Amino acid sequence: MLDLVLRNATLPDGRVADLAFQNGRLVHIGRAARSDQEVDCTALLCIPAATDIHVHMRGGIQSAKEDWRTGSMAALAGGVTMVVDQPNTIPPLLTPDRYLERVLEAKEHALCGFAINAGVSPGVDPLHLWRAGAMAFGEIFAAPSSYGDALTPEELKQSLRSIHALGAPATIHAEEVGSGIPDSLQEHHQIRSPEGEVRSLQMIRDILPPGMKPHICHISSSASLPVAPGSKEVTPHHLFLSIEQFTPDDTFGRVNPPLRPESERRALFAAWESIDIIASDHAPHTIEDKAVSFAEAPSGLPGVETMLPLLMNEVRKGTITLSSLIDKTAVAPCRVLGIPPAGFAPDQRHDFALYPMEPVTIRSDTLHSKCGWTPYEGMEGVFPDLVVQNGEIVYYESEYSCIPGIYLPGRGYQVGDPIQ
Ligand code: DOR
Repeated sequence: MLDLVLRNATLPDGRVADLAFQNGRLVHIGRAARSDQEVDCTALLCIPAATDIHVHMRGGIQSAKEDWRTGSMAALAGGVTMVVDQPNTIPPLLTPDRYLERVLEAKEHALCGFAINAGVSPGVDPLHLWRAGAMAFGEIFAAPSSYGDALTPEELKQSLRSIHALGAPATIHAEEVGSGIPDSLQEHHQIRSPEGEVRSLQMIRDILPPGMKPHICHISSSASLPVAPGSKEVTPHHLFLSIEQFTPDDTFGRVNPPLRPESERRALFAAWESIDIIASDHAPHTIEDKAVSFAEAPSGLPGVETMLPLLMNEVRKGTITLSSLIDKTAVAPCRVLGIPPAGFAPDQRHDFALYPMEPVTIRSDTLHSKCGWTPYEGMEGVFPDLVVQNGEIVYYESEYSCIPGIYLPGRGYQVGDPIQ
């Protein structure tokens, strides 16, 4: 007997078929026999669920901003079944003990699959963090950011050398910070300029160990794309938001790297084909955190729940192709990390999101992040009705099954490493 049948789903190639699941696996695509659990998926487009390789799920003493329960609910409601959490927590993930504490916190609360990166700091040997289960190292800060201290170029060089010696992935936040304290989005953009981003990427190229291909986080300008070594990530906020959409000192638009002028946003979108990966850099701060002067406000925007909806709306409008979207959100992120992607093949993760392809207006009161706001308020998005994770329904018509998310350790994981 089958465990679950999704009837008449539309596949990415346009075929309409039943999807049959048994023991957490997709076992048949075509005309399926009966099952106790069947869902009519007529007119729903079924695509592999996304892996978001750049989220800050907060938790711990930052649980007022977000915690693993609310952050993972937001992920699932946005068609994301695997998130990779960043190590700039308070305190940061720089020891195996702290790393394992973080894994336990997530295991207790997360509803979506998750991996956790380890931090990088001068004098911290990455070996035991790699053995503890780190998926990757970083984001490594080449410039300071909210809750992230910068490494000097020499420190970065040494760190990249030891990470490369382990065969581990390194992810880098490339920016250059000029002098002054910004009072507006425009000043923030000038102090952390696109030219500075390019110079930072050139510096990274110069210090890379031979053969290393790093992952470059959140590229904010089209001029950076040809310069960046390794895989290139772009966020939805740099594709959909620009300075002109906000009042000059609106702290809710403050993020690192900064939002750019509309002309640059358009140029980045036009370079879609050169982007390898879309990741949200989900970095929630509370409304109270942001309700201070621009100079004092923390940088960061929530975005894990709206990433696929914004992009699926572009697919609906014909601006981007469905296959390029699947590649940049489901396939390439997993290739960079060396983990199986979600997909229809037997050796893939059987995680899917099914979309009605009807846009709705994005409203913060229907989203799930604890921070309670979205920079995309009033914009259009196509949200999934149904999300399947490991062959089971985890989200359907705004309800959660509350099945715990599964932890995915990195390739260096060793059970019983003496330091643990
Ligand atoms: O704007 C940002 N916020 N950029 C980062 O790199 C960190 C993030 C955060 O953790 O809030």
